Amino acid sequence: MNSTATQTGLFSTDRRDKWWVGPLASGLGLAAFGAYSTWAAAIGVHYEFGPYLSPFYAPLIKWDAFPFSPAFLILWAPLGFRATCYYYRKAYYRAYFMDPPGCAVGEFRGHGYKGETSFPFIIQNVHRFFMYVAVLFIFMLGYDAVKAFTWDGQFGIGVGTIIMTINVLLLGSYTFGCHSLRHVIGGKTDCFSCTKFGPVKFQAWRGVSFLNSRHQLFAWCSLFSVGFTDFYIRMCSMGIFTDVRLL
Ligand code: FES
Repeated sequence: MNSTATQTGLFSTDRRDKWWVGPLASGLGLAAFGAYSTWAAAIGVHYEFGPYLSPFYAPLIKWDAFPFSPAFLILWAPLGFRATCYYYRKAYYRAYFMDPPGCAVGEFRGHGYKGETSFPFIIQNVHRFFMYVAVLFIFMLGYDAVKAFTWDGQFGIGVGTIIMTINVLLLGSYTFGCHSLRHVIGGKTDCFSCTKFGPVKFQAWRGVSFLNSRHQLFAWCSLFSVGFTDFYIRMCSMGIFTDVRLL
């Protein structure tokens, strides 16, 4: 927080660069995804085509007593994971809360900032628990991607198969680059070679660190891919797109 900027008001800054482009783009991107995903999840139809299943509905739980879209039975997990992600927190704190809008830029709120040490933002700490659920989801989405290679019991590949496979790879790259996961794997280890399974842990930590350093990139790529995968399957299911069989 820049105290001079805070005293002189919202958006006041000595910065001469286009600092507002990032928060504006993030705000618009998140709003667009939020609007599309809410609609696609709530509508409750056109989420399957052939062996394809929209990631907004995976894993598919069909429960007749549930009066709403089946997407609502599972979406709390990826939503909770993303909403509490360290990167997304930065993005929406800047874009929507203006707290602050950027580094060394005057913020909306004045003094008395307690960060995430008190209610309600202390709740963000549940991210570490959502992480375990999100890892499970990657395996379930991976299973759906493998199923997308099977057409009437025969091996086959359609454009949707490729889209679903890329989607799970991007989601995996985002999830396995999580800061909480990196902490679980190597956070308390001062000396890898001194611990049990040290070399394995070290390689795992290096892999997670590699993805972690690109976390923002994979956060956006996977957000786009999950929306696009749903869109593609939806369009095929509605008969607007023809899914081309490659094999
Ligand atoms: S910090 Fe972004 S997914 Fe965990």
